[in-house]
Amino acid sequence: MGGIFGFVSKDKLPGKVLFEGLRRLIYRGYDGAGYAYLDDKGKLIVRKKAGHIERIWRDIGITEISSKVAVAHTRYASRGWPKDNNTHPLQDCKESLAIVVDGIIKDYEVIRDDLIREGHKFASTTDAEVLAHLLEPVSGKEKKIENIIGIGRTVDGVYAFAVLFQGDNRLYVLTHGQPLVIGIGQRGFFISSDIPSLHGFAAEAAVLGDNMAGVISQDEFKVYDILTGGEVKQLIRKRVKYPAGLWDKAGYPHYMLKEIYEIPHALRQTINGLMDKYLRLAAMIIQGAKNAYVIANGTSLHAGLVSLYYFADLAKIDLEVVSAAEFPYYGLEHVGTGTVIIAVSQSGETSDVIRSIKLAKQRGAVVVGVTNMVGSRLTLESNVYLPISAGPEIAVPATKTFTSTIATLLILAAYTGVHTGQIGQGDVRMIYGEMEELSRRLQHELSRIDRDAARIVDAHNNWDNIYVSSSGINYPVALEAALKLKEAAILHSEGIQLGELRHGPMVLVRPGFPVILIKPYEEQALELYDKVVREIKSKNANLLIVSMDDEGENIVRTVPTIKYLAPIANIIPLQLLAYRIGVKLGRPIDTPPGLAKAVTT
Ligand code: F6R
Repeated sequence: MGGIFGFVSKDKLPGKVLFEGLRRLIYRGYDGAGYAYLDDKGKLIVRKKAGHIERIWRDIGITEISSKVAVAHTRYASRGWPKDNNTHPLQDCKESLAIVVDGIIKDYEVIRDDLIREGHKFASTTDAEVLAHLLEPVSGKEKKIENIIGIGRTVDGVYAFAVLFQGDNRLYVLTHGQPLVIGIGQRGFFISSDIPSLHGFAAEAAVLGDNMAGVISQDEFKVYDILTGGEVKQLIRKRVKYPAGLWDKAGYPHYMLKEIYEIPHALRQTINGLMDKYLRLAAMIIQGAKNAYVIANGTSLHAGLVSLYYFADLAKIDLEVVSAAEFPYYGLEHVGTGTVIIAVSQSGETSDVIRSIKLAKQRGAVVVGVTNMVGSRLTLESNVYLPISAGPEIAVPATKTFTSTIATLLILAAYTGVHTGQIGQGDVRMIYGEMEELSRRLQHELSRIDRDAARIVDAHNNWDNIYVSSSGINYPVALEAALKLKEAAILHSEGIQLGELRHGPMVLVRPGFPVILIKPYEEQALELYDKVVREIKSKNANLLIVSMDDEGENIVRTVPTIKYLAPIANIIPLQLLAYRIGVKLGRPIDTPPGLAKAVTT
């Protein structure tokens, strides 16, 4: 994975445009960054270095340049170590072009061996370098786009790239399973791996679909369908509009903390961003379905698990929630006409999700997408999609997108309940009202919750192998909290159902062993909860509790709300706890080593 950013403009643009674009794309990779541009004489200049863009920008002098055409890249090292030579842009033997690539090239060893036999010399151990050498014969030629289309037809993999040739003031781009958008700005055209990063540079974005190639000059851009070779006249266009300062840490030491504090606002944005017309359409599709699956990965999968309770309670619909990574091996024989897939992905680019929905669609299923990224692959592949509108999330550990995804799925389930006749419009209004109330309460209480979490983290030192447990609608919250502890605090943790604790896992609980319990919402689970609390206390374990109604030394009290919103109220102290433990242990909170925000290949 990687992030691509670039521009072609009539007047020279400063390098800080590239720097800002890359900074906004660091969630796509932070193992190295580089850029290429043409100087006044049309000479191709390339600079790059391994390392996070915010650490190396001075070394590569990115803010010192200016040019009319440039392309830049932030790298996630999936093939080839994070080293200078593996950092993009990559070049051909003659150094006549510079290419930046997002994604992977399948069977690149075979292509590479062929190219080496032909006399090409490789400077890196990345798969993407083969593209530079394959394009070498094209540089200097007039009709490069035909050859670029040819590459898209013959080179297998999941990738997008942008290439700049010596002496040619145009940028060439290609999409083959990875995203790329063209921003239409007053000062020129911009390219990027996502739409939000174009904010302030372009008012509108043209979204390239799968298998498209384009050539962008100062005055125009032309896009072609790789499979037919014909020009694509109508691209999907999206407005680019986000509040200023969205990519700044705004005084917070980490993006993760900032994004947790943004949750109340993000919830209001979610409510405002959901349109009645699309909710009704999605609800109608789900209500009429023969069978329905929620597919997602990681944090989005946990949000999907919460939605099981929503659909069962509010619409009397039994969904199956399946990891998108397992779906191809799991439910496919039951997928056909009449199946609905609710595909949840904050990035909208996760390869497991995209692969699974493509397989389901081939069998006649209808797809309802839920995503934070309008213009993503998921939005292009869905029959209808619902934006969660949480705003850009930079930290790799997902926080506000989890809570906004839950809110979106709750509203969708409520609309579906109205369609199935299980609930009335008044119930939907009540849910909206409670959501707004929760957002207000959180706004007031977040710093207090944070202080409580920090106090507990300060008071204890044994942070490793943590059990997180709960029951009912809060069980998926325990899974999500364990994931946050892994990502932000880089320690082992496990989410366990409350009842299951007593079927084996309790054997590890001994004096000082950290156990976090989320007090269940369901009355029926409280007896079991009390029993487990007593048992853990009797073992002198280090017991921490997240509760809406209790207070005490080792308890973080969250804000009270209705059952359906309890997962949102409860995850916040747990996200803060994971964050505070990560800070205490000196972890690289926003960019855990070896993790990218979305697994796109
Ligand atoms: C969690 C995290 C990952 C993602 C997962 C799915 O903090 O970042 O577990 O949740 O990779 O990503 P999306 O939702 O973009 O499909």
